[in-house]
Amino acid sequence: MPLKKGRTGGAPIFMKAVYPGSFDPITYGHIDLVERSSKIFDEVIVLVMENVNKKHFFAHEERMRMVRLAVSHIHNVTITTHSGLLVDFARENDVKVVIRGLRAVSDFEMELQMAHANKSMLADFETLFLMTETSNSFISSSMVREIASFGGDISKWVPPCVKGEFKRKLGK
Ligand code: PNS
Repeated sequence: MPLKKGRTGGAPIFMKAVYPGSFDPITYGHIDLVERSSKIFDEVIVLVMENVNKKHFFAHEERMRMVRLAVSHIHNVTITTHSGLLVDFARENDVKVVIRGLRAVSDFEMELQMAHANKSMLADFETLFLMTETSNSFISSSMVREIASFGGDISKWVPPCVKGEFKRKLGK
């Protein structure tokens, strides 16, 4: 991939962005955002957050496995994990942009708070919001979990690898 010229005309810069989330589980909404941001940045790091304060349906290794399979078709994506503050990951890995998706206005309030909190902890860390595609605007991991738990068909919202994980876990 060609590198962009530095802003001052100097050495080319390699632009990377981080896309963090719980991915419990990854959905077509998340995948769409990874695909679109991979066209904007040289590298997109999908960061599967491990938060001890949060209870997840899928274990960390399961979430990682599903993410790895779900985005394996995108060449400039790396998948990794982090268990602390997002800004610490950004500082340690020299990442200056975080990508977050917005489905509806209701997402905005929490996202705005997070963006401000992150920026006040790390001044040159920017949040880039991407609107989800209309067809994905109502998909959420929690909705998928709910439907799957009652035996509903989730094929429209998640890739086959995620469907398979539910089957394995729930036995349906
Ligand atoms: O998929 P989610 O649950 O909407 O993702 C939220 C996530 C994991 C990106 C956010 O909670 C996060 O960045 N957590 C790491 C801890 C942190 O840095 N908190 C300060 C930002 S308010």
